[in-house]
Amino acid sequence: MAAAFCMVTPENIHTEFHRMLDRSAKEAQLRQRGHVFWFYGLSGSGKSTLANALERKLAQEGYVTKILDGDNIRSGLNSDLGFSDADRAENIRRIAEVARLFLDAGIVVITSFITPKRELRAQAREIVGADDCTPVYIEASFEACAERDVKGLYAKAAAGGVKDFTGKDSSFEVPEEGAPDWTISTDHQSEEESLQQLLERVLPLIKTT
Ligand code: ADX
Repeated sequence: MAAAFCMVTPENIHTEFHRMLDRSAKEAQLRQRGHVFWFYGLSGSGKSTLANALERKLAQEGYVTKILDGDNIRSGLNSDLGFSDADRAENIRRIAEVARLFLDAGIVVITSFITPKRELRAQAREIVGADDCTPVYIEASFEACAERDVKGLYAKAAAGGVKDFTGKDSSFEVPEEGAPDWTISTDHQSEEESLQQLLERVLPLIKTT
């Protein structure tokens, strides 16, 4: 009964987008261009570390940013989701919608999700808008991530204690040949070098002049 009461069908929805102050007004106010930098890669590849380092650098330059991070979002908005293919797809769909809301407010968004499948990345980019979304592959081998094992998950997974672990029981697809994705390798360069590479490519996209 409760379910029927809560049911909302699309024909009863009347969106209000046309009356709202638009994105360009927000961007003018913030003196920046909004963009979504979609960091993806294996757990432990350095996504969150680089997202945080990038955010701090951009903040120093006066940019307003928002990080959306896997473990954080999964402890709140997406706490109902696990790691099956279907749940990962729903996880990414919701995050992309949230990223788009921040983008509409003129904000520079840095997401940090494994986003293991090409199809998921394409779907996220479509929801955000291809021109406003840059996929950034944070590249590190499974072995390097297992070696770092910051969260102890690789050891736990090796002992059979993590279901559907990415790179072990659940596949991770590297970007296809010719994909527009940026690749930042964290295996063989320092955090500072990776950050520098990112900044050189990020700044031209968010500067107003
Ligand atoms: S995604 O595949 O749906 O994009 P997401 O980035 O949200 O994943 O969450 C990944 C984080 O969840 C990892 O960094 C790790 O801390 C944690 N985690 C818990 N279980 C798993 C698992 N089975 N596979 C990968 N990461 C897991």
